[in-house]
Amino acid sequence: MAQKIAVIGTGYVGLTTGACLSHLGHDVVCVDVDAAKVDALNQGEIPILEAGLDELVQEGRTSGQLRFVVGAAPAVADAEFVYLCVPTPQGGDGSADLSYIRDAAAEIGPHLPPESIVINKSTVPVGSTRVVEQALGRSDVHVVSNPEFLREGSAVHDFLHPDRVVIGADDQSAAIRVAGLYLGLAAPLQVTDPASAETIKYASNAFLATKISFVNAIAAVCEAVGADVNDVVLGMGYDKRIGDAFLRPGPGWGGSCFPKDSHALVKIAEDAGYDFDLLKGVITVNDQQFTRVADKVEQAAGGSVDGVTIAVWGLTFKARTDDLRDSPSLEIVGRLVERGAVVRAYDPAVDAGSDDARLHGIEVCGDPYAACDGASVLAILTEWDEFKWLDLDKVAEVMAAKRVVDGRNLMDRNPLVRRGFVLEGIGR
Ligand code: UDX
Repeated sequence: MAQKIAVIGTGYVGLTTGACLSHLGHDVVCVDVDAAKVDALNQGEIPILEAGLDELVQEGRTSGQLRFVVGAAPAVADAEFVYLCVPTPQGGDGSADLSYIRDAAAEIGPHLPPESIVINKSTVPVGSTRVVEQALGRSDVHVVSNPEFLREGSAVHDFLHPDRVVIGADDQSAAIRVAGLYLGLAAPLQVTDPASAETIKYASNAFLATKISFVNAIAAVCEAVGADVNDVVLGMGYDKRIGDAFLRPGPGWGGSCFPKDSHALVKIAEDAGYDFDLLKGVITVNDQQFTRVADKVEQAAGGSVDGVTIAVWGLTFKARTDDLRDSPSLEIVGRLVERGAVVRAYDPAVDAGSDDARLHGIEVCGDPYAACDGASVLAILTEWDEFKWLDLDKVAEVMAAKRVVDGRNLMDRNPLVRRGFVLEGIGR
């Protein structure tokens, strides 16, 4: 049955959630404080690169089941369900900053219809359901935790084909009402208490980050003992208890979730009296990985990058997104620039003219060959498929030296070696 839903916040999570809920047949109004963004969305302009999102937004606008407005109060006035999808950035001490959540809850509290349900999708420390309840100041409104497990770049797919739907609620009838929103999705439904739902989100992200740090550490061992990490991962992955997912070695993990959430979980544990040494180690291995890859580039350049031109392919935190937040590529580029390198970069999702402050100090080029012009080393830091199909003869022609550091083990070795390139990967 179609329900009336308001979604507060039109970032990655809010916009995807709103568009997908309208696709499931609900009547959705998405709210943001940014009037320019709301205007653009009403014109059908999607502010992020997200596969399939454009189509769903157009579908919702055409059917009238998806609207975008400024101002939460009027939007929630007749909503049966309100999703909170506002940011929870990392605060100074590593914990999640809850001020956006608190402000949003305080703003909508007086305007919510009786017996409505507020659904928390933002990733919040354990116990935050209570924080939202307090900020709302409404005893008749239920607050339910319903964490998202959306990967950027495949968020629409992940929403519509989830591995599970987790609902954390104290009130059984509220849980059942929220579960009803997802009828039509073929996924296991887990109903639990709010603290467990909140912990599931952190534990899942921390475990995935642990897998990647583990494989990056194994890659370092492989280099030391002369093994090939790709073969090692293949062999490990046949064991069903291990599986082969999320074991791709690379330049380290990044993005808007893993760094923030792993630090937050360390802090949550610390505040609760547990020293989460394992997770601290996972974070340390990741920081070391940025430095290890920068070191590889330096070694490929002959021991110093001071005054040396380095080409970089890939700036976003992973392929098929335009997101630069906590990008491992930018961490590595930062280390190279600090050591005196002149960095020329290309990324299919980043404009050459971009004035993004995170790109200061490097030259962003409009095509991959221009980035290689005069470069002594090419570092591949994001796994865009198209890099595999580029004209290597052209690359060889414009580079000052034929050296490649493949931070994603993306490229085929033979075509490069045949052209005289020296190739350095991760863990092989
Ligand atoms: C992640 C979680 O996957 C998602 O469930 C959660 O809701 C939000 O955080 P996302 O940040 O979009 O999603 O990226 P993801 O695809 O998980 O990758 C995270 C980082 O790990 C990226 O930097 C990626 O390049 C890296 N990664 C991932 C690896 O280095 N190796 C892998 O095998 C997988």
